[in-house]
Amino acid sequence: MFRVNENYQKLPGSYLFSRIAGKVNAFLQANPDQKVIRLGIGDVTQPLAPAIIDALHRAVDEMACAETFRGYAPDLGYEFLRSAIVENDYRARGCDISVDEIFISDGAKSDSANIQELFADCSRIAVCDPVYPVYVDSNVMAGRTGTYDAASEVWSDVIYMPCTMENGFVPEFPRETPDIIYLCLPNNPTGTTITKEQLQGWVDYAIKSGAVIIYDAAYEAYISEENVAHSIYECEGAKTCAIELRSFSKNAGFTGVRLGCTVVPKELRCGDVSLNAMWARRHGTKFNGAPYIVQRAGEAVYSEEGKAQLKEQVAYYMRNAAVIRDGLKEAGYTVFGGVNAPYIWMKTPEKMSSWDFFDYLLEKANVVGTPGSGFGPCGEGYFRLTAFGSYENTQEALERIRKSGC
Ligand code: MLT
Repeated sequence: MFRVNENYQKLPGSYLFSRIAGKVNAFLQANPDQKVIRLGIGDVTQPLAPAIIDALHRAVDEMACAETFRGYAPDLGYEFLRSAIVENDYRARGCDISVDEIFISDGAKSDSANIQELFADCSRIAVCDPVYPVYVDSNVMAGRTGTYDAASEVWSDVIYMPCTMENGFVPEFPRETPDIIYLCLPNNPTGTTITKEQLQGWVDYAIKSGAVIIYDAAYEAYISEENVAHSIYECEGAKTCAIELRSFSKNAGFTGVRLGCTVVPKELRCGDVSLNAMWARRHGTKFNGAPYIVQRAGEAVYSEEGKAQLKEQVAYYMRNAAVIRDGLKEAGYTVFGGVNAPYIWMKTPEKMSSWDFFDYLLEKANVVGTPGSGFGPCGEGYFRLTAFGSYENTQEALERIRKSGC
C-alpha cells in the first residue's frame, strides 16, 4: 500500500497567503458591497512596461511561423537572456559571473523552495525570524526541521535569527553553527536591509563556518541607498559560499508571467562536488525551460527602453511606499522599511496581535495587509503593508486606516 510523505502532515495550517485569501473571500461573501483594498500579498498592479509588451508580441508572432517557431527551450535558459543578466545585473556592478553560472527558471519562489534538494537531509538551516515562509516550509516537506511546537510556533531543528526593532532588524550570527543560511535582502517581510559591510560579515561568517548562503535578491531593484549591495557577489569570497536567487516579478511586474533565475557559481563546491553541476543536473531532469516568449520578455527588461520604463515603475511603487510610511507615521504608528523595499512593517497598535489587527483592519477599513506572525514568532505584534497597489488605492487605504480609529 502506498504511503504519503508524512512530513507534509507536520505543516501547520495552510500557506500564509492562501489563509489570507480565504479570510478575504469569506468577508466579501458576507459583505458583497464593500470595496476591499488589498495591500496583503506582494502582487504588482501596474501593467507590463511597453518594451516588454512589444517583445512579447514579437515573440508570439515568431511562434506563428514554421521558420521562427521554437519548441522546448534550452533547459538552463536561452543564451540571449543569460547574457543580458550577466552584463546588466553582474558585470555592470563589477561582479564576475559568467553565463554558465546563470540558470533561468519560472520564478524565484519555486527556486527558493527547490534549492534545498541539493543538500543533505541532516543539514541545519538558519532563517531570519520573521521570514518568507517558503524557505521553512520547503525544508519541512523535506523532513529537515524536526518537530513543531505549536505554542511557540518554532521547529526544533531550525536555527532562528530574530530580527526585531530592538536589533534594528539585523540578524546576528547564530550561536549554533548552521549548514544553510537563508538571507533575503532587502528583506521580505520587514522591508529593511543591511549595509554592504554587514553583508560582507555574513559572507566571511559562512566561509569560516563552512555554510552556504541562499541569498534571495528579489527586491534589489528597490534599493535607494548607496551602501547597500544589489548582489551578494559584490562581497569578496561570495562565489565560494553563496547561491543567489533573482526574480522578474517585483522589478518588472512578472508575477503573472513567471520568470526568475538562480546563480550557482562554479567556485561553490563541497569537496570535489560542484553545486553548479548538481543544479544543472537537477534542472535538466526536472524542468523543461521557461517559455521562449517569456524569456524574450525578460530580455526586454534589459533594453534601454525597458530599463527606463521599469525605473519609472519602481519609482511609482516607491511613491506608494512613502505614502504608507509617512501617512502611518503622521497617524502615530511605529513603522519600518519602505526605503529600500516595497514593504512597510508596522507595529500593531495597542499591543494587538497581528491577526487581531488583520481582522480589525479588514472589518473597519476594508483594507487587507499581512499579519507579521504569519512570517514567524518574532513577527507577532507587527503587520506588513505592500506598496504594490495603485497610487489611488494606496492613498485611500491610508485614509481609511487613519479613520478606523485604532
Ligand atoms: C509576498 O507577498 O511575500 C510575496 O509576494 C510572495 C511571493 O513573492 O511569493
